[in-house]
Amino acid sequence: MVRRHDRLFAVIALMLMGVGCDSGPTYHQDIAPFVAASCLSCHDVDGASGLPLTTWPEVRAAAPAALAALRSGRMPAGNIDRSGECATFTGPEPVHTEDIESLARWVEAGSVEGAVVDPESAVAPPPFSVGQHFEFGPFQSDEGEHRCTLVEGDPDPSFLTALRVESSSPGAVHHMMLFTLQTTADVASALTLDAADDAPGWACEGPTGVSGASLAAVWTPGSPVVTFPDGTGLALAGGAMIVQLHLGRASVRTEATVTVDLTLATCVAHSLSLIPIAATGLSLPPGKPVVHWTETLPLPAPDLDVYGVFPHMHAMGSALSLRSPDECLVQAPRWDYGWQELAFYEQPVSLASGVPLELACQYSTLDTDEPTVWGESATDEMCMVFLLAGEG
Ligand code: HEC
Repeated sequence: MVRRHDRLFAVIALMLMGVGCDSGPTYHQDIAPFVAASCLSCHDVDGASGLPLTTWPEVRAAAPAALAALRSGRMPAGNIDRSGECATFTGPEPVHTEDIESLARWVEAGSVEGAVVDPESAVAPPPFSVGQHFEFGPFQSDEGEHRCTLVEGDPDPSFLTALRVESSSPGAVHHMMLFTLQTTADVASALTLDAADDAPGWACEGPTGVSGASLAAVWTPGSPVVTFPDGTGLALAGGAMIVQLHLGRASVRTEATVTVDLTLATCVAHSLSLIPIAATGLSLPPGKPVVHWTETLPLPAPDLDVYGVFPHMHAMGSALSLRSPDECLVQAPRWDYGWQELAFYEQPVSLASGVPLELACQYSTLDTDEPTVWGESATDEMCMVFLLAGEG
């Protein structure tokens, strides 16, 4: 009995102490945990952003800008809604209103460091084994924002299980897309484009310029390494490929070298491919601030297990969503062409062959005076989602 009282007093004493010591949020207690969960995938020491947010002084210096970026919704970067309202994805966690409020209070109260809280032990990334290695750059200032290069792929069909993109200057590469080529005519047209200027590769604003190029893989800043879900791999036909780099700020572009490494496997338990769900009938009237385009498309494939999604529109796009009759598969409520991403589901989603999928895209056509239709060029538009899927 006595001991129980003692314990009760101790608890009350602790509670009182807690009230007395409430001097506002501290870095280690209130700020570092949400920065780790929502920002560090891109804002690590060698992350893609060029703005590390790994220590108290770094976060303190960046806090006013971070607050503005969070309030405007510009950060955490990315197109795909990860709030949990539509599907559940791996990757950076959404930032909650309480986190933004505590960041604001932390700044107001002088950005106190506070006592170190034991960090959760970090999970070591799996070792990355290099199957194919490609190097690009340094780039000339007039080479354009998008640079395509023809590369020799592994001649044998294989599976891509992980890819890594690294650059010598942070922020130099915004995204990388890998395309496969099937015919010698496609390889010839890539070589013609390549020969047009002295630098390696060719400028390719938007599409690659080679009609038969088919999208095989995508890397966007988030983590240098993209690892496909356990037991899966993306089927690569083998042979020639095009690596398209969307380069970042002009100031870092000219010094940067970029490496792309692929991990390949000869067999995997679940072979995946990218299946396009595309509203190719698209036709948008000019001069309108908001234009909606919605199509219901039956799944053009056998029963599928879908492991991830890659939404795609061009620069006029402002929002996109894809739904099955049962669930929301992906939504990008504030589309930004510069932030295209391949996102993996926490759990694969099963879709039955022929199930009607509702694809809804929204655009602003204010800058046009002619109707805009589906097409490859940067002045055309698209409305599509690639499903990263295997047979279910
Ligand atoms: C998916 C990657 C990614 C995530 C996640 C991310 N950022 Fe960024 N961030 C970037 C990149 C890349 C830049 C460089 C500018 C650009 O390319 O738009 C940047 C720039 C910034 C900037 C400076 C420019 C600006 O827009 O004000 C701030 C501040 C910032 N991020 C804060 C944050 C915070 C805080 C978080 C977490 C809540 C976060 N970011 C999450 C990629 C990311």
